[in-house]
Amino acid sequence: MFGKLVNYAVSDNEVAVTYEGQQVTVKVITDEIIRVLVPLWKKDYESIAIEGDPSVPVDFEVTGSEGTVEIKTGAVTLTLKDDFQFVFTNCEGTTLLSSYKGKRAIKPTLSDTAVKLLEAEGHVLDEGQKPHEIELLFNLREDERFYGLGDKTGFLNKRGYSYENWNSDIPQLHHENMPALYKSIPFVIGASADATYGLFFDNTFHSYIDMGCESTEYFFYGADDGNIDMYFMAGEAMADIIEHYTYLTGRAPLPQLWTLGYHQCRWGYESATDIRDIATKMRENKIPCESVQYDIDYMEVYRVFTWDETNYEPKGQLIADLAKDGFKAVCIIDPGVKVDKGYFMYDQGVENDYFAHDPETDEIYVNEVWPGDSVYPDFGRADVRDWWGDSHKKLVDMGMQGIWNDMNEPASFRGPLPDDVKFHIEDRLTDHSEVHNVYGHFMSMATYEGMKKLTGKRPLVITRACYSGTQKYSAIWTGDNQSVWSHLRMLTPQLCNLGISGFPIAGTDIGGFGGNTNPELLTRWIQAATFSTFFRNHCAKGHIMQEPWNFGEQVTNIYRKYVELHYRFLPYIYDLLFECQITGLPVMRPLVLHYEDDENTFNLNDEYLVGENILVAPVVDPGVRKRMVYLPVGTWINYWNGARFTGGQHILVDSPIDTMPIFIKEGSIIPMYEPVQYVGEKPYDTLELLVTGDSCFGYHYQDNGEDFEYLQGQYNLYSFTYENEKLETELLHEGYKRYNEIRVVKL
Ligand code: GLC
Repeated sequence: MFGKLVNYAVSDNEVAVTYEGQQVTVKVITDEIIRVLVPLWKKDYESIAIEGDPSVPVDFEVTGSEGTVEIKTGAVTLTLKDDFQFVFTNCEGTTLLSSYKGKRAIKPTLSDTAVKLLEAEGHVLDEGQKPHEIELLFNLREDERFYGLGDKTGFLNKRGYSYENWNSDIPQLHHENMPALYKSIPFVIGASADATYGLFFDNTFHSYIDMGCESTEYFFYGADDGNIDMYFMAGEAMADIIEHYTYLTGRAPLPQLWTLGYHQCRWGYESATDIRDIATKMRENKIPCESVQYDIDYMEVYRVFTWDETNYEPKGQLIADLAKDGFKAVCIIDPGVKVDKGYFMYDQGVENDYFAHDPETDEIYVNEVWPGDSVYPDFGRADVRDWWGDSHKKLVDMGMQGIWNDMNEPASFRGPLPDDVKFHIEDRLTDHSEVHNVYGHFMSMATYEGMKKLTGKRPLVITRACYSGTQKYSAIWTGDNQSVWSHLRMLTPQLCNLGISGFPIAGTDIGGFGGNTNPELLTRWIQAATFSTFFRNHCAKGHIMQEPWNFGEQVTNIYRKYVELHYRFLPYIYDLLFECQITGLPVMRPLVLHYEDDENTFNLNDEYLVGENILVAPVVDPGVRKRMVYLPVGTWINYWNGARFTGGQHILVDSPIDTMPIFIKEGSIIPMYEPVQYVGEKPYDTLELLVTGDSCFGYHYQDNGEDFEYLQGQYNLYSFTYENEKLETELLHEGYKRYNEIRVVKL
């Protein structure tokens, strides 16, 4: 397809490279980020993930000789040759990534007899290896590992697995090698002894990424349509790559502080009485809680933006009552609008032509979701997003403070939406095949903008489906997991990879959504989730009640201990989210992010770091009361008993049922608050500093935790130094009411 490299032309930060059969544009975005666009579909493609033009002025050199072009920035050199062969090298000339010369080795398909035989026993055959419309093959190093890719199941290191990007509603058990779940985040970090680099494939069509499953010689990216639109990112360390990726696709804005607290939910709190009862029990059991969330049960026949006044009391009453006890209201909103003449959302949408259309009849396209026949708002259009955003007014007027967006893959019960259902991206008419993976993204955007306008606060939006860049608008949860130990085990690699992929505010359904949990599983789950930035117990209809008190006093006490611990660490978590706006680094981090050369961390799936200074080793198997913990280099102090350990070794740690091993890195200062029943119960006027050693250092960020005034400078940024038993405080920025007291606690 490409043929010989014929010539090239440079203008501004672009190099237009002409091949015999194809044009390629190389865009130098920064010294470290290079975009390679093969416009198989559209030359002027406007990214959805990347808003605005991220490129900065860069000095780069372009040289060419026969069949070769070399583009050299201060950090990376891209050499292009005939047949679109390419190599990215760093300043020392080390190859970071190169194209693979050979062809894919696709296994022959099975004979009909073999298929019949397999099916006879009930084997489900996957589609197997097939060529894709668009393909890009890269050389695979023997020691290469892969991190990122969003919410994919399985382990931290994605090497040896093959995935798809096609947002999918999967209520069945999420097993270790699912091709796709709810989110599409085509970003991956490659790491090996010689090289660290990042790749972002900005294409929203159904795409494929094989991390060395098909071959040990190459890995590949494929897509059904669209462009090859690849951003290559160079960096010394994984952290640099994350910084570059989030520079491109954006960083999660600071959330309201309360949203980071504990939330309780169930699909199947059938009435206001149920909600009141749960709220009362939360307070009676002294388990801190911010919201008892409203799942679809609160609506009138699942019509979005309605309220069932029969079962859920007259509008606003329940919300106002619970607010007196510190509960904030958060409700679910799905995209599917019930087909129902006389229902305002349906009528307004029809009148203004806001819904997607059937390609054949040009009528409004209908499928089925909870309310029965439903239609799909065309969220790619700005006017539809505005309408949707404004539609939250009724709920906000009732006191709603947070919105949970679900079923936005989009889910459909009567078979998948055909690829050619008509949608838009802004004014451009397109179809479902392009819009599918960004449907949740646009819905989150609509919700965020609407809630921001209506409340003036930092919106809490939680979404199930998303694309790269949705982190600017929404927090996420990992969808319909189940009450099984393998899903508790998956919590760490899944949330760590989501964090690396730009989503620092994320969580799992604590206890498991589907299936019946049990006392030990729930106990270990709340422990493992202690540092989750979206911290919610949620369970599906038809399963046993999952609030902790249903499992007796011991479970309730341990549960409380960890929810309180989460509240103790809130300022540390909030600090990390502040830092994330500068660095893009997540709160929950795999050890490999900070100990890249330590092979013990390369695929460490049952430990995680919180920031750089807290190491957590959750117990993720039943019956385990001691666990092996790997401590990387440094000195680590057991949070529970102050025992000190030299890192670089595996240790055996007691982990009775009420204990999850937690270690704090020596030399750090961890800001902490007294636990409260909910954020806002009392003013946070005392800051506790947990100091770990004789010479410690730390930062701390403080603001009102609610609105956007911090952007006008209304915040404090402290730096703390603790030496010779004395604390020195420096205010690097002062713009907010200071603490009455800052107290040192030694570990
Ligand atoms: C989906 C969601 C789940 C929710 C349910 C009912 O399964 O993933 O969280 O409870 O729908 O709204």
